[in-house]
Amino acid sequence: MTRRLRVAVIGAGGIASLRHLPAYKQCENAGTAELVAVCDPLAENTQRAQETFAIPHVFADYRELFKLPGLDAVSICTPNVSHEPISLAALEAGLHVMCEKPLAMSLAGARRMYEAAKQAECRTAVNFRYRWIPAAGFVHDILQSGELGEIYQVYFNYFNGSLHDPATPIRWRQVRAESGTGVLGDLASHLIDLGRYWIGEISSVNARLRTIIRKRPLIGGGTGEVDTDDSCSFFATFSNGAEAVFNASRFATGRGNHQRAEIYGSKGALIYEIEKHDRGGDQIQLCLGSGQARYNAFATVPVPPEYLSCNPFRPMIDFVDAIHANREASPNFADGLHCQEVLEAAEISAREGRWVALPLKG
Ligand SMILES: NC(=O)c1ccc[n+]([C@@H]2O[C@H](COP(=O)([O-])OP(=O)(O)OC[C@H]3O[C@@H](n4cnc5c(N)ncnc54)[C@H](O)[C@@H]3O)[C@@H](O)[C@H]2O)c1
Repeated sequence: MTRRLRVAVIGAGGIASLRHLPAYKQCENAGTAELVAVCDPLAENTQRAQETFAIPHVFADYRELFKLPGLDAVSICTPNVSHEPISLAALEAGLHVMCEKPLAMSLAGARRMYEAAKQAECRTAVNFRYRWIPAAGFVHDILQSGELGEIYQVYFNYFNGSLHDPATPIRWRQVRAESGTGVLGDLASHLIDLGRYWIGEISSVNARLRTIIRKRPLIGGGTGEVDTDDSCSFFATFSNGAEAVFNASRFATGRGNHQRAEIYGSKGALIYEIEKHDRGGDQIQLCLGSGQARYNAFATVPVPPEYLSCNPFRPMIDFVDAIHANREASPNFADGLHCQEVLEAAEISAREGRWVALPLKG
């Protein structure tokens, strides 16, 4: 049997507690990895993680963590601003890196991370986790089979209502210096990754970003300025000729984690939709062939059993398996970099009020 990989999680907040820490615990049970350390400057977060997941070592500074003997890999679950410095330091220390999305604060940053990983010959992963939802894998294989014919149009929505209340205080996601972009990098990045996974590379974008409420309470008292987008919409073309509309918003009152795609092709169409806690991810709506199309009929199709082992822990499980097998994980830093290029193109487009072609120069 192969040696268990020694893994640490950096940042012990929301996504670490919900996905990364329990995922590595699953790997521990499967005998493929061992969760050896957690790192966060907030003692209450490391203490909670240590107690919940029985983690032997705790660190407040990732530079100290990297001195831990025998460490193989890290998951980076910190706010976006520290993805690049922590990744570069981890790669320099020879560690395999899974990083949260969006990969970086800018395209230049994502390029540096991608190049550093190549140089270090380390495995990488990015937690665009919706690829691993059963219905997303099913949609991917239907599209690959060509059963829908030529894809004409795709409509993507990703909505929640987390900012619709003006009394909701500013957190790091509403501060450009900590997050880079707002909803664009936070929610639309997932849709961009699904678009690339299902349809192909994006060749141009025309975007609009909007900050709906500009002033919000600060957690310590007083009022602060929101300088990230609350909602974003963009038209996009794919290099295979398909056209798409992407919408993402935190002002979608009543929505929890609503993600939907409608895909229309020359021979058929499908609808993918999930709600809070990925509910609905085990079925799609499918209209296949002229018979159904004549009656404008969509059938509810359960996702076949072979896709149902996909779950929110699979990105980390795949990362660990990829290191053992010496293969690329999916999605990885190359995917994070491609996504970052679309994010940057959307920002340029919104700022300058024009279509922007991809790939970007420079
Ligand atoms: N893939 C997904 O579905 C998904 C979902 C939510 C969040 N995310 C991403 O995960 C990342 C974290 O988001 P979150 O919601 O968990 O944020 P959070 O605020 O809940 O947690 C962030 C944690 O990182 C810690 N931290 C900050 N700087 C650090 C540093 N230098 N070293 C170690 N720890 C540090 C904070 O103290 C905090 O505990 C973001 O990049 C976000 O975009 C991804």
